[in-house]
Amino acid sequence: MAVISRDVVIVGAGPSGLTAATELRKSGLTVAVLEARDRVGGRTWTGDIDNAMIEIGGQWLSPHHTAALALVRELGLETFSRYRDGESVYLAADGTRQQFVGEGFPAPAETAAEINRLIALLDDLAAEVGAEAPWAHPRAAELDSVPFSIWLERQSDNEYARETVSFFVAGAMLTKPAHTFSALQALHMAAAQGSYTALATDTFMLDKRVIGGMQQVSQRLAASLGADVHLGAPVRRVQWSDAGVTVFADGDLEVRADRVVLAVPPNLYSAISFDPPLPRRRHQMYQHMSFGFVVKVHAVYDTPFWREKGLSGTGFSDTDIVSEVYDNTNHGADNGAMVGFIAHEQADAYFAMGPAERKRAALDCLVRYLGPEAADPVVFYESDWGSEEWTRGAYGVSFDLGGMTRYGHDHRDPIGPMHFACSDLAGHGFQHVDGAIRMGQAVAAAIVAQRSLV
Ligand code: FDA
Repeated sequence: MAVISRDVVIVGAGPSGLTAATELRKSGLTVAVLEARDRVGGRTWTGDIDNAMIEIGGQWLSPHHTAALALVRELGLETFSRYRDGESVYLAADGTRQQFVGEGFPAPAETAAEINRLIALLDDLAAEVGAEAPWAHPRAAELDSVPFSIWLERQSDNEYARETVSFFVAGAMLTKPAHTFSALQALHMAAAQGSYTALATDTFMLDKRVIGGMQQVSQRLAASLGADVHLGAPVRRVQWSDAGVTVFADGDLEVRADRVVLAVPPNLYSAISFDPPLPRRRHQMYQHMSFGFVVKVHAVYDTPFWREKGLSGTGFSDTDIVSEVYDNTNHGADNGAMVGFIAHEQADAYFAMGPAERKRAALDCLVRYLGPEAADPVVFYESDWGSEEWTRGAYGVSFDLGGMTRYGHDHRDPIGPMHFACSDLAGHGFQHVDGAIRMGQAVAAAIVAQRSLV
């Protein structure tokens, strides 16, 4: 049995936990980070698959993600823009394929105007609701009691406009069907990324990538923390009282500390035994916070053949199995890479198939977007976060209907010596690397402030 004593023990070596540990260290506190996996980075994971560098998890940064961009720079990393020259492709419900330029899906003028009207309405409401405390808005209870799909039906008779507007937050962000989350949750996601317009603008949300991969943010933070990061150390039990905590991890590791930061997604708190148990309300609350689900499919080709055809590689469909595709070629690479997304109910249908059938279905869809050359990639890979024991979904965790007003106001509060940091608890940058970093910084600042009062 190894017993370690530290000022603060951090559970989880994702961007949030490693940021918290780094900030606490800067303030002169001693830390230990316990990570269940044999790697750092959590939902950011830059893999080597058959000699191809693949961003298995989080990869893009938007101009609104200023905390993440600042940390990337501070760590000496550089970013590059996604290839986006040329025409995009839209696969319509009737099987037709259209090439188009600019943002948004192609639509007749009247429908385009209706989409713009709905987005302007959502922009105004998102600005009012804000990113940090949506539950405090005077209309929060009303907006949290209605599914986003029904809220849209009340605003517009135009089904195509509704489906299009819904797509930007349902399939593309929360990765849950629009009837399962509230209008308030949709507005919070929009406010947290700047506006609803931002969600509807792929050149904003999917603006920059880190050269060499997003996981390097965590790897560089961990390198500075050195031997204080313990891999392969899943935390199973947290004993806590006002006097401090003792955290028990596999490998006979025991860490005694004044404080613990739980930097894991909220759906995983229930995998840890708390002694004494968490307050009743928190046990209830966490059952109303669940992961969405999306599969990332990667296809690497000898060349980015679509560029020669005047295609950007960007494509959308609200009915076909791969609902979004993007050119995901690495910086300076000679080959070409595409990434596609299969979200929520489409992902359920996808995983009902066997591996060969899935691959065929995904590649057939890429053929519809890009042409016959897409049928035969050199590397094909599926990012399946639903099977990852230490995540269990993608991209992030959100409240179910009504959960935000019922539980939101205290879901970030510490409990005795236990603090909570994770992108899924963030305001600004919610569910993104930016939010993870902001939460890590905020929790570290709160612990330092509390200690200075003692
Ligand atoms: P994160 O989940 O990353 O880290 C938590 C850590 O805790 C993990 O390392 C886990 O192993 C560990 N852990 C869990 N239980 C434990 C236990 N009991 N004991 C010890 N350790 C434990 N974001 C973005 O900004 N741009 C993007 O393009 C994308 N795209 C994207 C795609 C996909 C497929 C996914 C899955 C996610 C994204 N994201 C994203 C989201 C982004 O990756 C995510 O918000 C951050 O990684 C969250 O960082 P955290 O540190 O909060 O949690």
